[in-house]
Amino acid sequence: MMSECGGEELEKIKKMAHAPYSGHRVGACLITQDGKEYFGFNIENASYSLTICAERVAFVHALLNGERNFKRIYVTDFPCGACLQFMAEFVQDDFEIVVVKDGEEKRFKFRELYPHPFRL
Ligand code: THU
Repeated sequence: MMSECGGEELEKIKKMAHAPYSGHRVGACLITQDGKEYFGFNIENASYSLTICAERVAFVHALLNGERNFKRIYVTDFPCGACLQFMAEFVQDDFEIVVVKDGEEKRFKFRELYPHPFRL
């Protein structure tokens, strides 16, 4: 499955992160239903709370390109709660989250990690 966005590519995008404050780089690769890939990395700011996580950057990247149907996301850390709520706006319950960390791949359904999103 990793051939989809490639472990090496994910590591490459992680290295491009702008994380001078925490020193913690995160890479993400979002896959659309028709197999396109959109990368994202975390972008920190001197005004710390303006920091944007890798997953949200990947979603914005894809959304700007007209994408609306998503299959899975590869990410180098577990997604934070804010990112899960952000994703909830655009994904179905069977959307997959694949955490690629320490040479291991852990696979989850979106609903396992975030079963009760806030909805209006
Ligand atoms: N971070 C992400 O990019 N994704 C997450 O889901 C959790 C946290 C980033 C934000 C910040 O730049 C760094 O990790 C340390 O919190």
